[in-house]
Amino acid sequence: MAEIIAIANQKGGVGKTTTTLNLAYSLHQLGKRVLTVDFDSQANLTSCYGIENPNAIEPNISHLMMARMEEDELPDKAAYIKTANGVDFIPSSISLSVVDASLRLEMGSEMMLAGILEGLRDDYDYILIDTCPSLGSLTINALAAADKVIITVNPQLLAMMGLQDFMKTVRKIKKRINTRLEVSGILLTMCDSRTNLCKVLKDQVYDEYNKVVPIFNTTIPATVKVGESIYYGMSIQQYSPKATAGIAYREFAKELVAL
Ligand SMILES: Nc1ncnc2c1ncn2[C@@H]1O[C@H](COP(=O)(O)OP(=O)(O)OP(=O)(O)O)[C@@H](O)[C@H]1O
Ligand SMILES: [Mg+2]
Repeated sequence: MAEIIAIANQKGGVGKTTTTLNLAYSLHQLGKRVLTVDFDSQANLTSCYGIENPNAIEPNISHLMMARMEEDELPDKAAYIKTANGVDFIPSSISLSVVDASLRLEMGSEMMLAGILEGLRDDYDYILIDTCPSLGSLTINALAAADKVIITVNPQLLAMMGLQDFMKTVRKIKKRINTRLEVSGILLTMCDSRTNLCKVLKDQVYDEYNKVVPIFNTTIPATVKVGESIYYGMSIQQYSPKATAGIAYREFAKELVAL
């Protein structure tokens, strides 16, 4: 039965999508059955899988969400689950932003994604949800569906700002809608340990949060190869097997599996 993990942080550009892509591939390499869900209307994860025009792919996650809201039957799994490099994924498109607006008007709409993913739990070991940079109704749906949340933090981007608000949202969701929800840990990304700024900011994250939530031992270094791999629609491990970030994501997958 799959463990459902949301990769989240309401801050943009902190490595959520990159982590979803590369963690999923690393877990697959460890022999795990993995599904990723692109739950961001930017559809970056969908593009990472080499899909040039995500808006042309139907049905995608927004159709499934709409079907749930209308109490309609979901389409066949084969219609919406795609596969790339051994990892299954459910694509997204800009139409998810319409769902976001509808969710805000619909009563009891927090569990829509949970309902979709419950039907897929038996097929996988891990289901990873890539979330959008906001604390709105889509992120609430992702956290309501998840057993765990991995918070990606880029120490360069004023890491501490907003983290308190995020933790507060997690606590509220745990109390009100999803008692299973736990913070798996904070993952530091794009973190070049050789730079002084990174060291200082890393210490700051540890001082502030180590007592509150776990911080993963593995940190993901910054490397230009990550951007290149995304451009070519590959995971970093496939694009450049010796790249430090790819090795780090492999270590991170092992750390996660061992928890
Ligand atoms: N380890 C890394 N080294 C270098 N660049 C990276 C690394 N991880 C991510 N990036 C780059 O940083 C940018 C932001 O990463 P990503 O898209 O994963 O963040 P995000 O949190 O998903 O952003 P958003 O909130 O907009 O969805 C991308 O251009 C990506 O290529
Ligand atoms: Mg993203």
